[in-house]
Amino acid sequence: MKPAAVIVLAAGEGTRMKSSTPKVMHTLGGRSLVGHALAASRGTDPERVVVVVGSGRELVTAHLGEIDPDAVPVVQEPRNGTGHAVRIALTEAAPDVTGTVLVVCGDVPLLRAETLQALLAMHHGEGNAATVLTAILPDPTGYGRMVRDASGAVTAIVEHRDATDDQRAIAEINSGIYAFDGALLRSALGRLKTDNSQGEEYLTDTLEILRGDGHRVGAMPAEDHNEIHGINDRVQLANLRRLLNERICAHWMRAGVTVIDPASTWIDVGVTLEADVTIAPNTQLHGRTRIAAGAVIGPNTTLRDTEVGENATVLATHATGVEIGTGVSVGPFTFLRPGTKLAAKSKVGAFCEVKNSNLGLGSKIPHLSYVGDGDIGDGTNIGAATIFVNYDGQTKSRTTVGDHVFVGCDTMLVAPVTVHDGAYVAAGSVITSDVPPGAIAVARGTQRNIEGWVARKRPDSKSAKAAAAAQSAAESGKEPD
Ligand code: UD1
Ligand code: CA
Repeated sequence: MKPAAVIVLAAGEGTRMKSSTPKVMHTLGGRSLVGHALAASRGTDPERVVVVVGSGRELVTAHLGEIDPDAVPVVQEPRNGTGHAVRIALTEAAPDVTGTVLVVCGDVPLLRAETLQALLAMHHGEGNAATVLTAILPDPTGYGRMVRDASGAVTAIVEHRDATDDQRAIAEINSGIYAFDGALLRSALGRLKTDNSQGEEYLTDTLEILRGDGHRVGAMPAEDHNEIHGINDRVQLANLRRLLNERICAHWMRAGVTVIDPASTWIDVGVTLEADVTIAPNTQLHGRTRIAAGAVIGPNTTLRDTEVGENATVLATHATGVEIGTGVSVGPFTFLRPGTKLAAKSKVGAFCEVKNSNLGLGSKIPHLSYVGDGDIGDGTNIGAATIFVNYDGQTKSRTTVGDHVFVGCDTMLVAPVTVHDGAYVAAGSVITSDVPPGAIAVARGTQRNIEGWVARKRPDSKSAKAAAAAQSAAESGKEPD
């Protein structure tokens, strides 16, 4: 049964992050903390989602507009506890709600939709007024403890700072994630007191109120306690980022991807990989990157929002916003920038930068070149150290190079300019006007040899001696020593 509402608590200050960015906007796996909470929540197919915002609310609200425009932000000001937060969320954004209400924390990024579904199943199966997601922790310090009676039934949650020594010995803790009957929750929230050590409205106090009304309260320990860990500082953020990454790498390995070294491979949640992709060490795959079967990525490669076709190889490359076709070879030491499309079987080799350009079928930019704002046809070879001169200091212009063109090494193609199909360009040329089909353009100084210059200007130098030896050997018809 899908919940009527999910309330995401995200008003906290996050002081220990020591950041100008609100805590819930810090990211792991290419998604913000609140984004993870929303993704897990959306996995239960709720009728509505309410996010309680407070600290940094302008930024958080704008962020919600980008990642989940249907989520309704509700401002909690002042922050007077988790019970207060849920109370105003219900009052302002779900006053009529009667079905099941899930409450989740905005800073618990490993929580999975499957766990929320299991919580809902228990909640409905047992007919509970409230069901708490709990965990057994090796060190429960700081958390609210689950107090159960002799029969094992949950009677209350006691906050660490309000707990007795006996209660502090309880290892089962409250994750801060719950399923509630919406109408009963609203009734209990109306009766919360603030007679605790923090003077706040504790959401946890609703459990005793509901029990007192004769309702059932349940608890479901999470299978893996890592899933309910929250984040307060950047050390915890790094730990959970690593755990999330392990989960993502394991998922793809089980789906048929070879990850040589998961510890040095970082894969965002939005990446998709086909079976028989190989990821070599020290590789980062970000954003909406997609990689097709048989491709080999890395080592030492970072791809963002990049598509890689079947059987392509991408070695020691940095690429953002690029389409790499089937069987393409890229790298090593290659920089591919947004708007670049490499057609099937093409190649961009060592020490090349390509920006906002199209490379045709089987065409090659093998070495040491800059290709910016270029359209290159099929079967064309761009010689080593060719530069597409796309910027005159004011405007950027495009260069067009046709099919089966041969551009010699160390050429400047000064845009806007076109080298038509089947043309050749001589090495070292500076091309400023179009080259017709089938022509060869030679645009460089003619070579002049000044005989005897070294003997006159550098007499007695090693060069002069070498030259003299070569000349006398040539005269006598023998090789020099
Ligand atoms: C709360 C629980 C505790 C549980 C712990 C799990 C209460 C009283 N205690 O503790 O039993 O073990 O979570 O992490 O609920 N928030 C608001 N507005 C507020 C206060 C909090 O939106 O006024 C949000 C926070 O941003 C956070 C979540 O609620 O996402 C939990 O708040 P936090 O202060 O971490 O809760 P604790 O008091 O530590
Ligand atoms: Ca907390």
